[in-house]
Amino acid sequence: MSVATSRPHDSAALHVTGQARYVDDIPTPRGTLHLAFGLSSIARGRITSMDLAAARAAPGVVAVLTADDLPFDNDVSPSIHDEPLLTDGAIHYLGQPIFLVVADSHLNARKAARLGEISFTQETPILTIEDALAADSRFEDAPRIWSAGDAAQALKDAPKSLSGSITMGGQEHFYLEGQAALAQPQDNGDMVVNSSTQHPTEIQHKVAHAIGVPMNAVRVETRRMGGGFGGKESQGNALAVACAIAAQKTGRACKMRYDRDDDMVITGKRHDFRIDYDVGFDETGRVLGIDFRHYARCGWAQDLSLPVADRAMLHSDNAYQLDNIRIESHRLKTNMQSATAYRGFGGPQGMLGIERVMDHVAHALGKDPLEVRRVNFYEDANRGLSAPRSDAVAPPPEDISGKRNTTPYGQAVTDFVLHDLVSQLEETSDYKARRAAVREWNDANPILKKGIALTPVKFGISFTLTHLNQAGALVHVYQDGSIQMNHGGTEMGQGLNQKVAQVAASRFGVPLEFVKITATDTGKVPNTSATAASSGSDLNGMAVKIACDTIRDRMAQHLAEQHQCALADVRFADGHVDVAGNRKSFAEVAKACYEARVSLSSTGFYKTPDLAWDRIKGQGRPFYYFAYGAAVTEVVIDTLTGENRILRADLLHDAGSSLNPALDIGQVEGAYVQGAGWLTTEELVWDDNGNLRTHAPSTYKIPACSDRPDVFNVALYENENAEDTIYRSKAVGEPPFMLGISALMALSDAVEACGSSYPDLDAPATAERVYMATQRVRDV
Ligand code: MTE
Ligand code: MOS
Repeated sequence: MSVATSRPHDSAALHVTGQARYVDDIPTPRGTLHLAFGLSSIARGRITSMDLAAARAAPGVVAVLTADDLPFDNDVSPSIHDEPLLTDGAIHYLGQPIFLVVADSHLNARKAARLGEISFTQETPILTIEDALAADSRFEDAPRIWSAGDAAQALKDAPKSLSGSITMGGQEHFYLEGQAALAQPQDNGDMVVNSSTQHPTEIQHKVAHAIGVPMNAVRVETRRMGGGFGGKESQGNALAVACAIAAQKTGRACKMRYDRDDDMVITGKRHDFRIDYDVGFDETGRVLGIDFRHYARCGWAQDLSLPVADRAMLHSDNAYQLDNIRIESHRLKTNMQSATAYRGFGGPQGMLGIERVMDHVAHALGKDPLEVRRVNFYEDANRGLSAPRSDAVAPPPEDISGKRNTTPYGQAVTDFVLHDLVSQLEETSDYKARRAAVREWNDANPILKKGIALTPVKFGISFTLTHLNQAGALVHVYQDGSIQMNHGGTEMGQGLNQKVAQVAASRFGVPLEFVKITATDTGKVPNTSATAASSGSDLNGMAVKIACDTIRDRMAQHLAEQHQCALADVRFADGHVDVAGNRKSFAEVAKACYEARVSLSSTGFYKTPDLAWDRIKGQGRPFYYFAYGAAVTEVVIDTLTGENRILRADLLHDAGSSLNPALDIGQVEGAYVQGAGWLTTEELVWDDNGNLRTHAPSTYKIPACSDRPDVFNVALYENENAEDTIYRSKAVGEPPFMLGISALMALSDAVEACGSSYPDLDAPATAERVYMATQRVRDV
């Protein structure tokens, strides 16, 4: 079998030798034109006059377009109609595209884009959460509120309580390949687009609207991205649409790619959040009632902010049974880049809220935070529902709260494994002894302080917009026995294609080398969902399995008839087919089936079962299942400077029955490092004018190889998915990102060693913030 085996990424050799072809590497026809946007230099106001004569006269410039020149729909929004490709006169953020230069080279286009002479009337930009609240600047008329039980009463009745607040910064995606698109006009007004996108169907849809053709006249192809991380779910629309419009106007191929600084200034990032909390608890640390206020900075356009903020709310419980909870979520509109999807899609922000609460409660009680976490865990699925819960607050009748192992949104948690998983990790990481050693170290060392933390993850798998949980595939078997596989998912480095190819090879019982991985193509599989929500392999793996099985069953049927044997006597294995004692190669059988006029091509279609979700009420079963994990991080800080290092990280992650353990471990390692980067060194800074000052690697610090933990132990937790997913595997793309939360909590633990009050360490915990926190705890 090809599944459940470790195979390298199908393009690994191409990646490391620089041969893997990205959009910008595709050979283009002679006369291809290059595009660049002229950008706003203010964050909020209106254009009063625009003189583009210098841009038009610049060397190599073929055309300069403004909103007035756009033939059809001026909109690149993935949600509501609120994101013009080129401004209609109103300026919403610094970096907003105003005009489009079409030139004979990338450099000429960029140079001309700087030559626009534009006057504005300026208004004071709304930048901070406080600004937005004061101006009541928000998406949706009022905050969204979900609750279960009676949080206010529980807070009143609880023997102990505390309040706090944590702010967490956004995060630049920093995909190695920047946003890029190439549009090539075809006969009769049709358009072929190559786009670095997680969502080819969305590109097709937006391009069709923009150039005034039906979707069947636009074909979008994506072979691979050099990383997406959520930043290519919607942020590629502008480039593809610009290229298609310019290609339609000029009749020539048009290409656009953002240089890194433009990419950072123009495109949206992770939502930064402030989360305020009031929590009531008992002496054991069990949370009896909790009230969260989420404040999300969404930027200027809606984009995916509502489902991102929803997912933050949906992860407010993380791994803990919270019977009485109220969550109020503010989606604030600000004059900055439109925040968008980023690995975890709001989940990390919501989860960090409750993880902070666990640490804060533990500090208040003088307990090991792990003990407090355990007291609050849901019950393990295989342990049954043991000890009765504290009945301090009787839930109102007909309320779902108080039901064992039920989330605040009413979904039963039937697959909880964290008691066992955390116990395993506690042992393998030697948590107890190391925690004691850290205490000893801190008693003996006044300058360097160490910290350690173990944090768990429970992450819901499925798109919360239920209809997105579908996928299609197209599989061909050629008469030489070679197989071509296509599906709606996109490859961004995560290894989706290899995993799905392993599924195809397994279904036909052939070596993996028989299966050709092809570019994602809206002409082959239509109406696809974004490759997102970590569900790429769950959805497309199933769709490919179904397509393969259809073909295999046709082949088997034919062979059974020919050999007058039962279907069960036809077996596909080892690149061969055994039919009632006869052994033929898969290629021979393919040829025979072709000659017998058996169809060797099939589509496959899959939709996730059993989902039901009412996002207004915040009730239902939004997730098919949960993925779990836990991490122990140990850090050291220099209390004189705040500088810090991760010394060791131990991760144990549940990928179900892994389709490919090597790729999954790669996902877990990368996700942890990216998560730790979010919470430690990656800091976005806007000045008072709304100008993003951190728009290059010189000022925005992502983790480098040298920032990996010196000791990095990563393992997969043995656990079949309780649900009937593809080979009982679990989605793995996003969940381990949140293992990085342990790094922040470990830093906080180290800071705690400097004094007696709670550090209230915000994220990212840069050296400056760590230093200031050490000063704060000392002052008391
Ligand atoms: N891994 C790599 N190498 N590059 C990426 O861009 N994106 C992440 C994750 N892992 C990403 C990645 C995000 S945001 C998601 S949603 C999933 O991969 C998407 O792929 P999957 O559904 O196939 O896991
Ligand atoms: Mo991932 S944020 O769902 O693209």
